[in-house]
Amino acid sequence: MSFDTDAVHAAREDLTALGVHVPPIDLSSTYPLPSVEAGGEAYDHMGEGRARQEGQTPVYQRLWSPGVARFEEALARLERAEAGVAFASGMAALTATLLSCVAAGTPHIVAVRPLYGGSDHLLETGLLGTRVTWAEPHGVAAAIEADTGLVIVETPANPTLELVDLRALVRQAGAVPVLVDNTFATPVLQRPIEQGASLVLHSVTKFLAGHGDVLGGVIATSEEIAARLRPVRALTGAIMHPLAAYLAHRGLQTLPVRVRAQQDTAQVVAHWLQNHTDVERVHYPGLGDSDPAGLVGDQMSGPGAILALDLGSYERARQVAEGVRLIGHAVSLGGVDSLIQHPAALTHRIVAEEARPDAGILRLSVGLESPEDLIADLAQALGADADAHATSAAVRQLVSL
Ligand SMILES: Cc1ncc(COP(=O)(O)O)c(C=O)c1O
Repeated sequence: MSFDTDAVHAAREDLTALGVHVPPIDLSSTYPLPSVEAGGEAYDHMGEGRARQEGQTPVYQRLWSPGVARFEEALARLERAEAGVAFASGMAALTATLLSCVAAGTPHIVAVRPLYGGSDHLLETGLLGTRVTWAEPHGVAAAIEADTGLVIVETPANPTLELVDLRALVRQAGAVPVLVDNTFATPVLQRPIEQGASLVLHSVTKFLAGHGDVLGGVIATSEEIAARLRPVRALTGAIMHPLAAYLAHRGLQTLPVRVRAQQDTAQVVAHWLQNHTDVERVHYPGLGDSDPAGLVGDQMSGPGAILALDLGSYERARQVAEGVRLIGHAVSLGGVDSLIQHPAALTHRIVAEEARPDAGILRLSVGLESPEDLIADLAQALGADADAHATSAAVRQLVSL
């Protein structure tokens, strides 16, 4: 099946036989046990990380949830992975992955900056018993030690959209598994498993669910690695909620059209911002200087819907973030509505100063609004002198390019 068809139908094949059109929502926190013995066997089976067998009691929601398993199966299909393991948040997914490295006796992590601020902070503090070496992409091989359990990278990276060549990075990592945070690209634009990565992480909260009403995380990976993550998830109580799984699974159905439409608009907005005299630099993979290695069109099929704009100073960035009216001033990204935020003051506030984004930078997540309306809002936030007619004429010209 094509990617778009999988997005609509994956993990729904049994619905007709069930006599329903959409997946049933099962909120059971516990399940009837057919017998003490059968319950105990199921407990052992899932406690060891194996996928629940057909007909086996799920025992307890913290071990297994049918709706969560449906979302996992669908997402794994889109990421071309064997398995998915879904969590209560993106940070819970990263936590379980890091704990599984600690448990395996490989607590050393090599990570490439920039990363989302929470991920950076979790690694920098060593809170979970990991030890981090920060490396440039070309320095990953040299940073690997005998007990390195994971190489972590984000591409495009939050918040300034740096791109990393995944095939080159996987070569550098050698036998060490590579985890790619694919939250910004989504499997619509980039499938890291096909480039040799072993784990793909998503904050489901973002594009996958897509409507700003779900908190979730997921790891797409091999069945072998999934089997190591599930017991950690069960023990730490980090499983995704079944309602979140239902909404995330539904979100996947429109993911390709949302991402492509948001990307089309982002390209127009990025070009408009690039030509605005108040904007010092636009970071966007679709602009040549943000993609020196030419990864868009190869590793990524398109530049995506997130961009960052550098306004040169904290004061200017603050004015614009607080001046937008249509665009929401809020953290998070990837939803149908556009959001803007100041990374150095918010999402990346806890990052060490030397790795923190510049104070003049704002991150903009472009939604499904019309480009004209978004540009008019940005124009008024940047300064009151925008000529609405000239602006929309310029937009029309850009759209037709
Ligand atoms: C790229 C990226 N990875 C991971 C996370 C963490 O995800 P969550 O907020 O769902 O825990 C975020 C959150 O902003 C993110 O942007």
